[in-house]
Amino acid sequence: MTETRTHLIELGDGLRVSRQGYGGMSLSDVYGPVTDDDALRTLTHAVDAGVTFVDTANIYGGGRSERTVARLLRTRRDQVQLASKFGILTGGGIGRRGIRGDREYVREQIELSLSRLGTDHLDLYYQHRVDPNVPIEDTVGALAELVAEGKILHIGLSEATGEEIRRAATVHPIAAVQTEWSIVSRDVEAHVIPAVRDLGIGFVPYSPLSRQWLTGLFDAAALTEGDGRPKFPRFAPEALAANRPVLAEVLDVARDADVTPAQLALAWLYDKGRALDLPVAPIPGTRFTERVDENLAAADIALAPEHVARLDALAGRVVGARSANPQWVSAGRE
Ligand SMILES: NC(=O)c1ccc[n+]([C@@H]2O[C@H](COP(=O)([O-])OP(=O)(O)OC[C@H]3O[C@@H](n4cnc5c(N)ncnc54)[C@H](OP(=O)(O)O)[C@@H]3O)[C@@H](O)[C@H]2O)c1
Repeated sequence: MTETRTHLIELGDGLRVSRQGYGGMSLSDVYGPVTDDDALRTLTHAVDAGVTFVDTANIYGGGRSERTVARLLRTRRDQVQLASKFGILTGGGIGRRGIRGDREYVREQIELSLSRLGTDHLDLYYQHRVDPNVPIEDTVGALAELVAEGKILHIGLSEATGEEIRRAATVHPIAAVQTEWSIVSRDVEAHVIPAVRDLGIGFVPYSPLSRQWLTGLFDAAALTEGDGRPKFPRFAPEALAANRPVLAEVLDVARDADVTPAQLALAWLYDKGRALDLPVAPIPGTRFTERVDENLAAADIALAPEHVARLDALAGRVVGARSANPQWVSAGRE
């Protein structure tokens, strides 16, 4: 336990979390089947190993992810920094879903999440997507009420633009911004990262392994029904083919650096955090305990500058957008 505590880093607004989180979307069948008991075993292993920053959302597996996290919390609530999200409406398919950020919805969803999670508070509550019909100041105002009531301790934003982050922070301190960031998805570096650095907000990179593609183990032929990845432009057959040389270079650098490709992808993010003096806590998701250990080891890897330089050159060569709808992510609205 002592060891866990010593590995906490501070994001923003005084929120301290493990320097690597656990991506709780993998507690449901989003990227392949998993039983609830196996999901709980992997999650428990992560927390035992010191990955105490647990990321979930109201929509993951239609509430299944939060319900599995609840089973962990029964005995481990005080050891976990618990984050969940609201804002994306189910139905409509990837890139075409509705978004709500009005006060009534915020208040309804926190109660549903707390009830599914079996706890009386979240450490961090993210707006999952910014509602184009509700000023972000109003949504953050509703979240500030939840802070005052003790239902959440900190506020986060996901896929907000740099300008939206700056506006949000005028209403209440923002602890974390969670947006896709990886060797092959670097659009956040233009406006979002400068905003969070200016405001003292921590960054939580999601899909740090580019939804497994960066590990070299993604196999389009082996996908099970319901796997959402083929809907992303980058996972279209022609994009996967065009990006093969980029992946080959990632795998080559990993061999040179004597780390696994997953560790390389995560170590690249930690390197960026150090270079930018930015608290960074990536949240890779996996169904397997061994991969939790493999990924966590990346937090102690320092990459050589020549390896970082080779990886830095790759994003510009990638074919296929990271989102099916550019408006759905911050880059399309900057
Ligand atoms: N805010 C948002 O809009 C948003 C969007 C997406 C995700 N997220 C959050 O971010 C978390 C992580 O993102 P993500 O799950 O999309 O992508 P990711 O972490 O980049 O990749 C997850 C995929 O990589 C595989 N994987 C993990 N570790 C591996 C390893 N060491 N070697 C080989 N394969 C490995 C997993 O499969 P196995 O299970 O087979 O290991 C899974 O298919 C999610 O769980 C979720 O909490 C947030």
